[in-house]
Amino acid sequence: MKRIVILISGRGSNMQAILEAAKAEQWPVTMAAVISNRPSAGGLSTAGESGIATAVVDHQQYADRAAFDTELMRVIDSYRPDLVVLAGFMRILTEEFVLHYQGRLLNIHPSLLPAFPGLATHKRALEVGVKTHGATVHFVTPDLDHGPIIEQASVPVLSDDTEDTLAARVLQQEHVIYPRAVKDFIEGRVRFVNGQVVRDGV
Ligand code: GRF
Repeated sequence: MKRIVILISGRGSNMQAILEAAKAEQWPVTMAAVISNRPSAGGLSTAGESGIATAVVDHQQYADRAAFDTELMRVIDSYRPDLVVLAGFMRILTEEFVLHYQGRLLNIHPSLLPAFPGLATHKRALEVGVKTHGATVHFVTPDLDHGPIIEQASVPVLSDDTEDTLAARVLQQEHVIYPRAVKDFIEGRVRFVNGQVVRDGV
């Protein structure tokens, strides 16, 4: 059984999509823990209700980023994960953290990377006037939001879109591609080799 740890900061809808897919499709995994940097993250209770261990490492309790990441690594590693899934985890991670998990650390980003790395992706997409927007699942590397891409889904940008309507359309796709990418990783179809994504050994 592969062991998965999921990191969240908020409502955890991507986490929930992954938990539901794992259950429905009977993935050969143990959901080892859901960890949040925010004690108030809504996703913690969803995970708890599913019987999954939860933990909080509150970044506000640490003097700096390095101290927080060190403690976060200690807590994550206590669950012995084969895969660490960032699901709306709103923290910039130190290089030390990223390198410790590189190759088994996934993220979902709400844009078609390399367009719109960073925050406020939907707002920026509307401002620039792109006609197509979307989401990306990628391996995390020290270069923020630039790791090798596993999956993308695109959605149209409509003329009457607001940030909220666009975000909702993208989120719906996130819930499709993130569980699929996690499953592909768990079942060995997707790997990180020499900084690139290798799929099915190709
Ligand atoms: C998602 O849009 C994700 O792409 C971004 O933050 C949001 C988290 O949503 N990184 P949720 O907590 O999974 O509902």
